[in-house]
Amino acid sequence: MSEDIDIAEGGLADLPAVMTVMETAFDSSFGEAWTASQCAGLLPLPGVWLSIARTGDAVVGFTLARAVAGEAELLLLAVRPDAQGRGIGKSLLNHFFRDALSRGADHLHLEVRDGNDAIRLYTRFGFSIVGRRRNYYSGGDGKQFDALSLAKTGETSGLE
Ligand SMILES: CC(C)(COP(=O)(O)OP(=O)(O)OC[C@H]1O[C@@H](n2cnc3c(N)ncnc32)[C@H](O)[C@@H]1OP(=O)(O)O)[C@@H](O)C(=O)NCCC(=O)NCCS
Repeated sequence: MSEDIDIAEGGLADLPAVMTVMETAFDSSFGEAWTASQCAGLLPLPGVWLSIARTGDAVVGFTLARAVAGEAELLLLAVRPDAQGRGIGKSLLNHFFRDALSRGADHLHLEVRDGNDAIRLYTRFGFSIVGRRRNYYSGGDGKQFDALSLAKTGETSGLE
């Protein structure tokens, strides 16, 4: 489980470390990863926040999220492959719930590629599938993949 994980709000200075996690965690064939300039463009906007998970000095995971008008969107969640399976993803998700609540958001939502194993994690934490966006992700070889829209309303604390 989650041993000695520190989760703290990050900023633009953390983007190089975030991009290392992004580029190793996401399979490039699915087109789910964001570029550094997409992240840098979004981060200064109102309601957007970055949470960084560290073990010691090493950045091992992050979330990027946005809260507006009582709703919070989990834009990205990733954990470095060699640190996966140790509860860091669950800790980041619990942290997102707490942050969303503290920002006044009680409706949570996210998009995730249909077929991504993370769907199991999200549904265990109370998200339900509420829609589908056709061809939302474009992979490197021109293939397209649907996104599922997931939502969770009301109680925003984690289940575990
Ligand atoms: C999704 C992700 C963040 C989970 O991080 P993690 O640190 O490995 O998650 P945890 O160790 O907290 O495990 C969470 C639970 O979900 C399951 N799970 C999560 N991701 C999984 C995956 N990719 N494959 C299989 N099981 C997974 C785990 O088995 C675990 O369940 P358990 O407690 O019954 O064993 C990580 O797999 C990742 O970075 N994936 C690539 C990026 C991505 O697709 N992000 C989601 C869309 S934005």
